Amino acid sequence: MRDVLVIYYSYTGNSEKIAMYVSDKLDADILKLEPVIPFSSDYDEVVEEWQNNNIKKDVSIKKVDIDLAKYKKIVLITCTWWYGISPIMKRFLKDYDLSGKDILVAASNAGWIGHCFEDYRLLLPNSNIKGELDLLFSSSSDERDKLLISYSDIDSWLEKLM
Ligand SMILES: Cc1cc2nc3c(=O)[nH]c(=O)nc-3n(C[C@H](O)[C@H](O)[C@H](O)COP(=O)(O)O)c2cc1C
Repeated sequence: MRDVLVIYYSYTGNSEKIAMYVSDKLDADILKLEPVIPFSSDYDEVVEEWQNNNIKKDVSIKKVDIDLAKYKKIVLITCTWWYGISPIMKRFLKDYDLSGKDILVAASNAGWIGHCFEDYRLLLPNSNIKGELDLLFSSSSDERDKLLISYSDIDSWLEKLM
């Protein structure tokens, strides 16, 4: 039985690409988090609305239809939104209990990771966080999907879960 679950939220696909890599590498199950009401597909619109407080910061997520109790080890990957973990990952960690599990956390970002790891720690008070990964992507608008760390950095992070 697989005992590792990769849980991710990705708006533009960067975190998703790494989540797929991790689930292949660890032969793990994978769970995609999704908002009930999708964000606009227009990147600049989402950035602007978020910045101007026009969209609700406390969003609802689709119900998770997976038995989390089956998994001893969890890998969490989210994009960074305004110096913290995405509101989707926040909502998930508030609604679902990962107490007692061994956990790796990552935040994809464009150079301003802010308080993402503090966010994870605050929302996972009873879990064993084994490793944190700064998943740095390019901030340049024409190559936002360019990963600026190496896959061997990702592999070293994954070893902390084994
Ligand atoms: C609304 C919004 C807010 C963002 N805020 C930050 C930020 O505070 N710091 C940062 O480094 N990148 C920020 N970004 C950029 C993304 O975190 C970065 O491009 C990431 O790689 C995207 O991951 P994804 O493709 O999984 O969504 C923001 C992007 C959006 C859409």
